[in-house]
Amino acid sequence: MGFFSKDIKNMDDLFLHTLRDIYYAEKQIVQALPEMIEKSSDPQLKQGFQSHLRETENHVKRLERVFQLQGQDAKGVECPAIDGIIDEANEVAGEVEDKNVLDAALIAAAQAVEHYEITRYGSLIAWAKQLGRQDCATLLQQNLDEEKAADRKLTAMAESNVNRKAA
Ligand SMILES: [Fe+2]
Ligand SMILES: [Fe+2]
Repeated sequence: MGFFSKDIKNMDDLFLHTLRDIYYAEKQIVQALPEMIEKSSDPQLKQGFQSHLRETENHVKRLERVFQLQGQDAKGVECPAIDGIIDEANEVAGEVEDKNVLDAALIAAAQAVEHYEITRYGSLIAWAKQLGRQDCATLLQQNLDEEKAADRKLTAMAESNVNRKAA
């Protein structure tokens, strides 16, 4: 179901649709991260992916609480955007042999994922506030803060040793 579906009539519908979208995305990320952990070589990167996997599992749980606060069942709606980002990451990673170059590719793919999450959480938080749901906004903000922190760590790694080794 796309953003311009007839089923979205008001801000509550739009909020719920986007909540389902990010819920689906977070679950796909939980599925994708173990492979990224396995493929990465740099110990710092591997450890970063591991800790973000644990955070991501918690993002799913926080979203389930937001569904609960909304009086809705937690369910996802297919999100072609995150599927595309993950597919592309797998495609690129499959073509890279040099492990330092592979690390750089994994960082870039992970940053694309984080930026997707950041944009979704930004919209959801704004809408939750607009709908008078500060309780939901607070939970979503906790996820957003962790996405931003993960993104900053990836940027630092990209700028330091990983990319230098690949050069
Ligand atoms: Fe997340
Ligand atoms: Fe994330």
